[in-house]
Amino acid sequence: MPQYFINNLPNLPTMTKIPALELTCQPLHIVRIGMVGLGQRGQKTLRRYGDIEGAEICCIADLNPARIAEAQAILRETGRPEAKAFTGANAWKELCLSAEVDVVYICTDWYSHTEIAVCAMQAGKHAAIEVPAATSVKECWKLVHTAEQTRRHCFMTENCCYDHFSLSVQEMADEGLFGEITHCEGAYIHDLRTNFGLNAESRARRSWMEQSCAHHNGNPYPTHGLGPIGWLLGLHRGDRMDYLVSMSAEGHGTDHLIGRVNTTLIRTLYGRSILLQLDITTERPYSRLQTVCGTNGYAQKYPLPTLKTTATPTILQGQAALDEARRHMSSHAARLWAEGRIRNVENEMNFAMDSRFIYCLRNGLPLDIDVYDAAEWSCISELSQQSVAAGSRPVPIPDFTGGRWESAAPHRMYA
Ligand SMILES: NC(=O)c1ccc[n+]([C@@H]2O[C@H](COP(=O)([O-])OP(=O)(O)OC[C@H]3O[C@@H](n4cnc5c(N)ncnc54)[C@H](O)[C@@H]3O)[C@@H](O)[C@H]2O)c1
Repeated sequence: MPQYFINNLPNLPTMTKIPALELTCQPLHIVRIGMVGLGQRGQKTLRRYGDIEGAEICCIADLNPARIAEAQAILRETGRPEAKAFTGANAWKELCLSAEVDVVYICTDWYSHTEIAVCAMQAGKHAAIEVPAATSVKECWKLVHTAEQTRRHCFMTENCCYDHFSLSVQEMADEGLFGEITHCEGAYIHDLRTNFGLNAESRARRSWMEQSCAHHNGNPYPTHGLGPIGWLLGLHRGDRMDYLVSMSAEGHGTDHLIGRVNTTLIRTLYGRSILLQLDITTERPYSRLQTVCGTNGYAQKYPLPTLKTTATPTILQGQAALDEARRHMSSHAARLWAEGRIRNVENEMNFAMDSRFIYCLRNGLPLDIDVYDAAEWSCISELSQQSVAAGSRPVPIPDFTGGRWESAAPHRMYA
């Protein structure tokens, strides 16, 4: 019988503490958000939060004053008051220190995520960080140590965990309908060449993401594929990633970015395997693979939803697979996804993620994604790069829980 680790939760056995696992904090009546980074994603987030009950955007910050004006316009358009604005190089620090803020929501480029999140937590705020939370193993440790020391939440906003098919597959797996899960596949296959302007733009005008991908020969964007798998396999909750090997195609064109497909294979300590892929420059259909193989069944979302479980011994495909998956949407997150559909929100998985985040903060519950998830899923960025550079040699994956993963309680979405 494993010994469980948990903090402050009344109806569970006494457990040894992992400082930031099952972390509970004082409930917040209204969650006051300070948002840093008001570019493409930040503005979409700002708009989305117009639909979320119990949260308000009280402060905004960006290096660029034009972004502040655009953000205030979004708030006005959606019937909300303008936020207190900070701009310039120290804007993010001033926002982190502002007494009005409960949560610092970080939508900047990857390289500033950790510094801002650490400052926020040290100032007593919770941090919400866009993906990936960190770009190096060192930064991942910084997030973990800071969350443990400050006992503040560090939530990585991995929206793909709230995809309806993933939530259904999670429920089916919890019911044992796939038998023992032995292998999973996840990916971010998204032709971004048009966004990048790869053929038209000069190198000097390339976006930070395009520059980052051009200089990164591994998988700098691993969390969309890995997040749902992390929950499914109970990573740092009974199993953990042991090592990876990674390989990248050479690619063509400027900086060899066209057709540079990265494939990373991860093995867990319990002998399960994970395939992760990143491809943002090939002309093929969008896919996150979302494939789960078990001893008694399997599921895959892309390219064609397909399902076979102990409850559905014939293979279901297309709408029949989706209909069957929808019969397994009883979790709070899945019900929020369905509510988003009824309310006709732009993107149901974002709605489910935002609603869950705010619900847990308002009720003083542990969050769905903790700092160990953020660190484990993000560290693949540097480690895949290391493996590629070393001719695809195996690279060990750190244990951010300090050995306590084995007896941690299974992943649970508190409601
Ligand atoms: N989850 C998703 O589906 C999804 C989708 C798109 C982007 N993202 C993530 O969102 C983040 C932002 O991406 P984006 O496309 O919006 O980038 P962007 O370049 O459009 O916006 C970044 C903004 O941050 C500001 N900024 C940068 N450093 C700052 C600092 N130190 N202080 C204040 N402001 C600062 C910039 O001025 C800019 O306005 C990235 O982490 C990206 O990976 C996630």
